[in-house]
Amino acid sequence: MVYHIVTMDDLNRRDFLKIGGAAVAAGAAATTRTTAEAHNALPLAAAPIETVRVGFVGIGGQGGGHVRNLLRIPNCRITAVCDIRQERTDWAAQQITAAGHPAPVAYTRGPRDFERLCETEDLDLVFNATPWEWHAPIMLAAMKNGKHTATEVPAVMRTDDCWAIVESAEKHQRHCVMMENCNYDRMEMMVFNMVRQGVLGEVLHAAGGYLHDLREIKFADSGEGLWRRAWSMKLDGNLYPTHGLGPVANCLDINRGDRFDYLVSMSGPSRGLQAWAAEHEPPDSPKRKERYVLGDVNASLIKTARGRTIYVEHCTNLPRPYSRINLVQGTKGIFEGYPNRVYIEGRGREHQWQEASALVGEFEHPLWRELAEQAKGAGHGGMDYIEDYRLIKCLHEGKPTDMNVYDAVALSSLVDLTAQSNARKSRAVDVPDFTRGQWRTNPKLDIVHA
Ligand SMILES: NC(=O)c1ccc[n+]([C@@H]2O[C@H](COP(=O)([O-])OP(=O)(O)OC[C@H]3O[C@@H](n4cnc5c(N)ncnc54)[C@H](O)[C@@H]3O)[C@@H](O)[C@H]2O)c1
Repeated sequence: MVYHIVTMDDLNRRDFLKIGGAAVAAGAAATTRTTAEAHNALPLAAAPIETVRVGFVGIGGQGGGHVRNLLRIPNCRITAVCDIRQERTDWAAQQITAAGHPAPVAYTRGPRDFERLCETEDLDLVFNATPWEWHAPIMLAAMKNGKHTATEVPAVMRTDDCWAIVESAEKHQRHCVMMENCNYDRMEMMVFNMVRQGVLGEVLHAAGGYLHDLREIKFADSGEGLWRRAWSMKLDGNLYPTHGLGPVANCLDINRGDRFDYLVSMSGPSRGLQAWAAEHEPPDSPKRKERYVLGDVNASLIKTARGRTIYVEHCTNLPRPYSRINLVQGTKGIFEGYPNRVYIEGRGREHQWQEASALVGEFEHPLWRELAEQAKGAGHGGMDYIEDYRLIKCLHEGKPTDMNVYDAVALSSLVDLTAQSNARKSRAVDVPDFTRGQWRTNPKLDIVHA
């Protein structure tokens, strides 16, 4: 057991964060922690669990998909469900009983009822797909009560919460996993497989993003419209960095041989949501009076400890086709998504892209080869099923999860850090080394099978 000793440094920093507000707080966030409790050896593994008993919190659009997936995965049961809307726990109960399992215990007594779930239920995993502001409190309640935890993305929104979940995972020796489904998409996994086989040479640069016109969703009177637009009034940075960054971070062995060292970030003007409100909302709609601070395009550059570069973009308020960029470039070639194409020196025509589909036969990741049939029909083209399958399999076998708490915070810390850099004329901001040096020796991610 690793004990957490609260130091003066912790107290001063936490008090300052409470007083200072997000932008100032961000500037004060410690970049390293050298407290006596130090760290747990990575990668974190726990005892194998024969049947993983899940408590699911937040059964909206994305949570509903996870519930359906989990019901199809061997060695998994959903025994408790929680949502502030009873119709959603009723829906989940119906899915669970229809799958032939006993009805779950439902927790519907308001926004903090997850605490009662964590305290009273005998569970292995508390999985949440709630609005962003609830991720940290739910994960902390789960781990405090001895449960592993998994969360939708981003894991947390503030640097202080990054440290809080790291310290809790270490103290309670629990898994704290961020469910970054894009790490499991077919092309992303194929690129990772190509990188592992050395096809792109030494990887030197990558780019990822979340470029998705969410205007209609943000203005809806249901689902994400109830909470996501509000963040556009609070923060100006990259609010959703993990979809684009997660897969390319794996290709660069982030936290396993390299790490994010520092970043610079810049946002442009905020126009898209105002324009949408003016065009689509009735004249007396209170939404027309809202004032957004989120720049429509936020662009950031990360430098890694080994000197490599990653471009990360966020753009959710403007008309445009969907893209996560998904670019990985090395000394022997380059892969770029949207559309998926590749250039490998010595293959194909010089200076010309080749369609990536031509390489699927050769470089398809084994997980996709083995699970594509099972994943058919699941959310986001099947990758959500593969992601859930891997989580339950790792817990079942007592293996380290593909993504651990250090990965969750490295990727999620960009929310706060890009806002800080942007607020300070794009000055460089250090990315904390949440692994406290372990990134140098952590083993690389393997190519896994189903
Ligand atoms: N990985 C992906 O591709 C993907 C896609 C969509 C959403 N997401 C993420 O999933 C999460 C949820 O998004 P969504 O689209 O499902 O939103 P949603 O609004 O459809 O669902 C959120 C659900 O949480 C419930 N809820 C809210 N506060 C709660 C609380 N305190 N306790 C219990 N339940 C609570 C709501 O009633 C709702 O059912 C977000 O973190 C989002 O970023 C990820």
